Amino acid sequence: MNKFVLVFLSIMILSLTSANAAIYKGQRIFIKKCLPCHKDGQNFIAEYKMRQWKKLMKKKGKPLAELHLKNKKAKKSWKYFKSKKYARKSKHLKQFLIEYAKDSGNVPACN
Ligand code: HEC
Repeated sequence: MNKFVLVFLSIMILSLTSANAAIYKGQRIFIKKCLPCHKDGQNFIAEYKMRQWKKLMKKKGKPLAELHLKNKKAKKSWKYFKSKKYARKSKHLKQFLIEYAKDSGNVPACN
C-alpha cells in the first residue's frame, strides 16, 4: 500500500467515526433534554422529514429554540434553550434528528 492510500483510508475512517460519535451524542442530548416532554421519542422524531429537522436546527438550532420560547407550555425548557450549551451542542442533536427522520429509513435503538 502506498502512502496516499493510507492517508485516504485514515481520513475515511476518521470521518466515519466522528459522524457516529455526533449521532450518539445527539441521542444522549435528546434522551436527557427532549424526551421528558416529548415522551414518544422515536415516533416523534419520525414525524418530521429530514428537511423539516434541518430547518428547525439551522443557525445552531435557533428556530427550534424560538418555537419553545414562545410557548408557555414549554417553560421548563427555556433555561436549556437559552443556554450556550444548547447552541454549542446543537449540531450533534441535528445530526441525530436527521439520521432518524421520517425519510431517512433508520430506526433508533433507544437503549
Ligand atoms: C419543557 C418541555 C419541553 C422540552 C424540554 C422540549 N420541548 Fe419541544 N415542545 C414542547 C411544547 C409544550 C411544544 C408545543 C407543542 C404543542 O403546542 O402542542 C413543543 C414543540 C416542539 C416541536 C414542534 C412540534 C409541535 O408539535 O408543535 C418540536 C419539533 C420540538 N418541540 C422538539 C423538541 C426537541 C428536539 C427538544 C430537545 C432539544 C424539545 N422539543 C424539548 C415542550 C418541550
